[in-house]
Amino acid sequence: MTKEKILITGGNGLLGYHLSCVFQDVGKILSSDLQPYSITAGIPYSPLNISNKEAVFALCNTFNPSLILNAAAYTNVDDCESSIETAFLVNTSGPRFLAEWCENHACKLIHFSTDYLFNGESGPYRETDAPDPINMYGLSKLGGEAQIRRILKNHLIVRTNVLFGKGPTEKASFVRWVVENLREYRVIHVVDDQYNNPTWSNDLALAVKQFYTLGVTGVINYGGLDYLNRYAFAKLVSDVFNLDASLIHPISTNRLALAAPRPLKGGLDITKIKLLPNIPLTPLKTILTRIKETGY
Ligand SMILES: NC(=O)c1ccc[n+]([C@@H]2O[C@H](COP(=O)([O-])OP(=O)(O)OC[C@H]3O[C@@H](n4cnc5c(N)ncnc54)[C@H](OP(=O)(O)O)[C@@H]3O)[C@@H](O)[C@H]2O)c1
Repeated sequence: MTKEKILITGGNGLLGYHLSCVFQDVGKILSSDLQPYSITAGIPYSPLNISNKEAVFALCNTFNPSLILNAAAYTNVDDCESSIETAFLVNTSGPRFLAEWCENHACKLIHFSTDYLFNGESGPYRETDAPDPINMYGLSKLGGEAQIRRILKNHLIVRTNVLFGKGPTEKASFVRWVVENLREYRVIHVVDDQYNNPTWSNDLALAVKQFYTLGVTGVINYGGLDYLNRYAFAKLVSDVFNLDASLIHPISTNRLALAAPRPLKGGLDITKIKLLPNIPLTPLKTILTRIKETGY
């Protein structure tokens, strides 16, 4: 494997953190994020706002990466409805600036996208299905994909959905939220009409390394093996953690009156990755058992 110089954006986020760990044996890593400090000890770090073109070019000119992993994004789906300008700056302009630098410096770009590109009428979606976003987050992420495709030939866009796993911070985690509430005997309401294939951040980071090793380019879906609704996911969590499932009550997405509409039958078709060698795809129940043993 060639020794790369790898810039990771969004390195303090859930996926960025796992990529920082997994890509250490691929090359020399520089992690970056909005904050002035790194959350991951021992990994070189520099603050970077990807929506600032001058800052992107200055850092890239100094570090001179041969590979950029763009895990930075404005991921609060409801806030994207009111902070539209920020959503497009981070999710559309940011990828554009990274792609522009990459194009002029023979640098590879691996970018992350979402099943929220689709309207949720007929998921799980294949790589070739036509996007039709129904909220600002999805629209801004679609813009990011379009910019990369327009500017840069040597790219990989990895679409994923409902990421979960042990992150570098105490940031909201679905599994932790379910476990902590049920342990305190609190009733929780979980939507039973949003379908996805939840994706373990550990498996995704390893899969991305394998895509890189195999030289995969273009667009590829990476989602978990199990396609289920969020209520069923919560029930599986309670089952694995031996908690009282009767405290979990189903609710419809409509009743939550969220700022952003949600694609209901979402998720990603993973036929393509099943044909590739050595792509980790751990069953959801096994993942939850591991999380129970190792902490969340
Ligand atoms: N999480 C999911 O369920 C999910 C589903 C599908 C696709 N994805 C995609 O997967 C990728 C990684 O998601 P994630 O779950 O790891 O998200 P995350 O935990 O929210 O991490 C994203 C990171 O990007 C940072 N960031 C925000 N604006 C930035 C900017 N202008 N410049 C640099 N960094 C910035 C965030 O900082 P702050 O926290 O300070 O804002 C955060 O540390 C994203 O592309 C996301 O769209 C995620």
